[in-house]
Amino acid sequence: MSAFLFEIAAVDGKARTGQLVTPRGAIRTPAFMPVGTAATVKALYPEQVRQAGADIILGNTYHLMLRPGAERVQRLGGLHRFMRWDGPILTDSGGFQVWSLAQLRKMEEEGVTFKSHIDGTSHKLTPERSIEIQADLLGADISMQLDECTPFPCPRQEAESSMELSLRWAKRSKEAFGDREAQNLFGIVQGSTFEDLRQRSAQGLVETGFDGYAVGGLAVGEGFETMCEVLNYTVPELPHERPRYLMGVGKPIDLVEAVARGIDMFDCVMPTRSGRHGQAWSDYGPVNLKNAQFAEDSDPLDPAIDCPASRDYSKAYLHHLVRAGEYLAAMLLSWHNVAYYEHLMARMRAAIAKGEFDSFRRDFNDRWAEGRK
Ligand code: GUN
Repeated sequence: MSAFLFEIAAVDGKARTGQLVTPRGAIRTPAFMPVGTAATVKALYPEQVRQAGADIILGNTYHLMLRPGAERVQRLGGLHRFMRWDGPILTDSGGFQVWSLAQLRKMEEEGVTFKSHIDGTSHKLTPERSIEIQADLLGADISMQLDECTPFPCPRQEAESSMELSLRWAKRSKEAFGDREAQNLFGIVQGSTFEDLRQRSAQGLVETGFDGYAVGGLAVGEGFETMCEVLNYTVPELPHERPRYLMGVGKPIDLVEAVARGIDMFDCVMPTRSGRHGQAWSDYGPVNLKNAQFAEDSDPLDPAIDCPASRDYSKAYLHHLVRAGEYLAAMLLSWHNVAYYEHLMARMRAAIAKGEFDSFRRDFNDRWAEGRK
């Protein structure tokens, strides 16, 4: 297997900045991947996603295998061509989405059988089928192993057997993936909130050998403090020289605190989902544009962000669009939120490069706390 070049340009405390170089372009790290679940980053053109500063987006095995079908996407030239995104794409393996969306799941050693949340039809995902869908049919640049996202809270014994199942699926995923020149495969650490289970999971994955390592099973209800604690003891088990990806996280403060603990990549529906619900993100937390206080506020959301949605439209106008239930509300707020998240990553990269991440982190925490008042 040939791992993408991962160049770490600067380290500041545990935080790192650099780039992961793929055949479809470099991913500047720490990186935020907007979520393009159903072959679309909801409410945004691919050009807007790129313009907002994203180097890579995320796609979902679960959704695409159900609709329009992975074989159909392949016949139409693969996911990049289908959705007109020519940058890198990372796909999630389906494990998490089966767990959170599907009806009537049945977990077995072989894989997971489930009924579609769309039409109730039966489907099966195995580690091998997930790799086939991601790497062969969709053509993902980075594929994820099939795993089981352990729910929270979870008794230790169940967390242990779930982690061990994910570890066995990791080995089968790697076997199925084989040697590929232009595509990478990441393993996923599980083990809930048990330090020794997280360590055993990480060590097992490192022994098998992956191109990058994800931390899964977080942001599932354990809370901010516990998530930070899990990162404190999990990240040091991962190889310094390979990218580390925290799955499904999170709010801006979560990203800052995870970068401080050595995470390089993130994905989350937060910016696009909250954009469709009238919320705009800022260093002070979420801003609810529906609120009457914005009815005559002629200021833009954030003139420092080089994005029309952040810079050129008044909060009064956005307030009106949200109140009127206009499509453009979702479009502009999603655009601003993705641009805000990407701008935050750019600010973190610059701070790490200058050796000033500590003061950036302190100032950010102060602003975030002020927003809570
Ligand atoms: N997305 C968020 N958390 C997880 C996880 O634990 N596993 C997978 N595959 N995807 C995720």
